[in-house]
Amino acid sequence: MKPTIVKILNIEEEAENVLTFTLDYPALNSRPGQFVMLWLPGVDMKPFSIASDDGKELKLSIFKVKKFTTALFEAKIGDKVGVTGPFGNPYSWKQGAHVLAVGGGYGSAPLAYLINEAKKDDCTFDLFIGARRKNLLLYSNKFPEEFTHIATDDGSEGHTGYVTEILEEKIKKLSSKDKKRAVVYVCGPELMEVAAAKVSQKYNIPSQISVERFMKCGFGVCGQCCIDDTGEPMCIQGPVLSGEHALSLPEFGKYHRTKAGAVEKY
Ligand SMILES: Cc1cc2nc3c(=O)[nH]c(=O)nc-3n(C[C@H](O)[C@H](O)[C@H](O)COP(=O)(O)OP(=O)(O)OC[C@H]3O[C@@H](n4cnc5c(N)ncnc54)[C@H](O)[C@@H]3O)c2cc1C
Ligand code: FES
Repeated sequence: MKPTIVKILNIEEEAENVLTFTLDYPALNSRPGQFVMLWLPGVDMKPFSIASDDGKELKLSIFKVKKFTTALFEAKIGDKVGVTGPFGNPYSWKQGAHVLAVGGGYGSAPLAYLINEAKKDDCTFDLFIGARRKNLLLYSNKFPEEFTHIATDDGSEGHTGYVTEILEEKIKKLSSKDKKRAVVYVCGPELMEVAAAKVSQKYNIPSQISVERFMKCGFGVCGQCCIDDTGEPMCIQGPVLSGEHALSLPEFGKYHRTKAGAVEKY
């Protein structure tokens, strides 16, 4: 699949070690929860969740980790990158639903895209963002304070503890009418995802979870992202799965596989 070569229109500092890249990509036609493969010639091609796509510009919020992201962080406005996609199964919602979006790490980026699109269908929302500390919180100022709920491990902002604890507190306070129209949407570290899926199950609220695996091609050819036993490629059948489906996978919350296929436990 040939990448589309696009220009970097803007680079914005989002949080510690996180940049948001705005790319000149008209008509990507993506849905929230989908991802693109970003290609840096001579470096590699890696998957990133779509943080926003307004039909003119594509935004990606990216944490600096190692080789690929370090090279990307050296890019300047006006430089060009390659993009393929959109790929994967998106989040879905019904008109007038109540979105309970739970994000950790870069997870709040695709969830912000989900909230902005779902609002067009008269959905209401609460966004729960978790991080180890305040400086790592992503998108904590993007939505009104009353709908943004924060948890940090060290208590430097919001609730001290896990983001799933504030999710559960909020669910307990929902009216029965709101509970009926609620859906929990999750993207973040896998152990957080497991906890969020279980909280949702406990209160009989459906959930949709982004299950991410090492991806090399992004469109079902290389087999790198297939789940053990079921063989489902997460780049096609995922990344978004129902909470029940995710919890039934033998490796969900237990381990994933590295680039070389070796098991890496959580
Ligand atoms: C569907 C999906 C959506 C993602 N969305 C985002 C996003 O919006 N923002 C963001 O910052 N990161 C996102 N990632 C993770 C991102 O792809 C990696 O952080 C990035 O590739 C790291 O590359 P690196 O060379 O800098 O570091 P490396 O040292 O190569 O990788 C560091 C870690 O990143 C993960 N990783 C590396 N390469 C891949 C790959 N090809 N597929 C999956 N995971 C990989 C592995 O856990 C690895 O241990 C997403 C991953 C997936 C699968
Ligand atoms: S990344 Fe190649 S099959 Fe999924």
